[in-house]
Amino acid sequence: MIQIRNLAYTAKTDEGEREILRGIDLDIPDGRLIVVTGPNGGGKSTLARLVAGIAKPSGGSIVFDGRDITGASITERARLGIGFAFQQPVRFKGLKVMDLLAIAAGRTLAKSEACDYLVSVGLCANDYLQREVNSSLSGGELKRIEIATVIAKASKVSIFDEPEAGIDLWSFQSLIDTFRNMRRTIANSSIVIISHQERILAIADEIVVIKDGLIARHGPKAAILPSLIGTSMAAPGCPKFGRGDVPVITEGKIHA
Ligand SMILES: Nc1ncnc2c1ncn2[C@@H]1O[C@H](COP(=O)(O)OP(=O)(O)O)[C@@H](O)[C@H]1O
Ligand SMILES: [Mg+2]
Repeated sequence: MIQIRNLAYTAKTDEGEREILRGIDLDIPDGRLIVVTGPNGGGKSTLARLVAGIAKPSGGSIVFDGRDITGASITERARLGIGFAFQQPVRFKGLKVMDLLAIAAGRTLAKSEACDYLVSVGLCANDYLQREVNSSLSGGELKRIEIATVIAKASKVSIFDEPEAGIDLWSFQSLIDTFRNMRRTIANSSIVIISHQERILAIADEIVVIKDGLIARHGPKAAILPSLIGTSMAAPGCPKFGRGDVPVITEGKIHA
């Protein structure tokens, strides 16, 4: 369980200080899948970065299972059980996909297990296990490999920042199935997904809308989702394709 209280983040910019987030109060209880949505630039990724420890808040506190982690490092939080998949994943030169999954899982993985993780994000596993995690992988492949590592980690809190970005619709379907399966086994853990996708909003227990650095709305899916459908905060998962046959979803919009 994560308790976020009065969290604020102020960034230094060329034009002086800018308040990015303020007064954020949010509980992430065990056993729940929470989807965070809202307009671009609202502060969603910043909130995820603060929880993962990549950025330090300018005010407020984050308590994880009764322990104040506001000042804890990324490594410490990862060790305590916070896993994070970036909106823009990182490449690791020299590491093979298989190694990356084993490091994430924290143990030796049988090839079949590693394969299962990759299949769950829509990658044909055998082709990828021995590939190096470098620039030969496309953005979408890299993104899916990173999501697979967060799944393999099975953290107490798993945070996915716009998992749909750069992923084709077919892989997107297996991703949703994967999140659904994860949801079934999270009695003592929780999942936070930042997303604009209607089909991801649809699997949420709770929806949080972040706008202009504040929580604009927060409640059970049934209370929030109907008012979001058809707005720019919820992009449909199944658009009509313009051209080509592999449309790509980025930042909640569909590029065919
Ligand atoms: N370190 C930073 N310095 C300056 N501006 C930042 C910094 N981090 C985030 N921002 C700005 O804060 C706003 C919120 O960003 P972000 O959290 O990425 O939004 P979202 O994920 O909701 O699209 C954006 O306008 C972004 O440019
Ligand atoms: Mg973002």
